[in-house]
Amino acid sequence: MKKLMTIMAMVMAVFAVNAKTLVVYYSYTSNVHNIVNELTKQIEADVVRVEPAEKGLDYAANNYAIGSAQIAAIRNNPTDASSYPVIDPVDVNVADYDCIIIGAPLWWSQMAAPLQTFLFHNGPAMAGKKIGLIVSSASSGISGVESDAKRLIPDGDFLSPSLWIKSAQTSNSASMLQQWLRDINYDAVAGVENLQLDKSSESFTVYSISGSLIGKDLKSIDGLDKGVYIINGKKICK
Ligand SMILES: Cc1cc2nc3c(=O)[nH]c(=O)nc-3n(C[C@H](O)[C@H](O)[C@H](O)COP(=O)(O)O)c2cc1C
Repeated sequence: MKKLMTIMAMVMAVFAVNAKTLVVYYSYTSNVHNIVNELTKQIEADVVRVEPAEKGLDYAANNYAIGSAQIAAIRNNPTDASSYPVIDPVDVNVADYDCIIIGAPLWWSQMAAPLQTFLFHNGPAMAGKKIGLIVSSASSGISGVESDAKRLIPDGDFLSPSLWIKSAQTSNSASMLQQWLRDINYDAVAGVENLQLDKSSESFTVYSISGSLIGKDLKSIDGLDKGVYIINGKKICK
């Protein structure tokens, strides 16, 4: 038993990383949900999904009337907690994370109301943390959502630029996310080491980010898909 625990401790040491990332999102019609699924193929992160407490609302009915009313209530009185729609309890402590990526649908040029509720309650505790913002809209520009994020996370250290993925681009999100992670220099944010460090190695042992063995004594890593791996004991972004 003791030996097993020692081995487990060693394995955990190999996989220890410098920074922890949380992805928090809301999604009504699954576009942001699908984007987040792509994102977590490319980075290691804990994920939480915000859900409104009131179930079965049709936000699209009557020209998006409910969503419109919720956004108007927040806009009219943004400092009052009762302006924000109630959400299910979210089991997360944002203080545990260094980087927080927010996945937001755009509603009436603002951040979708249920996600605003989460940030109203948790945004102040994100002071000093790296904040990334991904916004999905049908066509409207995202500056209103950026303003909401900055209002709700007043002391966040925002990564620039934000990523705007239009609904019709959702199926292309993998390559857009990959480019965005480069643009915000995510590797440096997350402490991912540079691939070139290992290029001189004779052979490569490769694990997935979740710890399953992909290949041993590989002569080359050229055949690996793009993504994050543990290669020769180091977290590497290919
Ligand atoms: C209540 C509501 C209001 C919306 N308002 C806008 C808008 O003003 N401009 C726009 O381009 N898209 C608008 N949309 C479309 C969403 O931003 C878009 O479909 C997005 O991809 C939804 O993400 P989701 O599928 O993760 O919920 C609205 C959607 C809803 C439900």
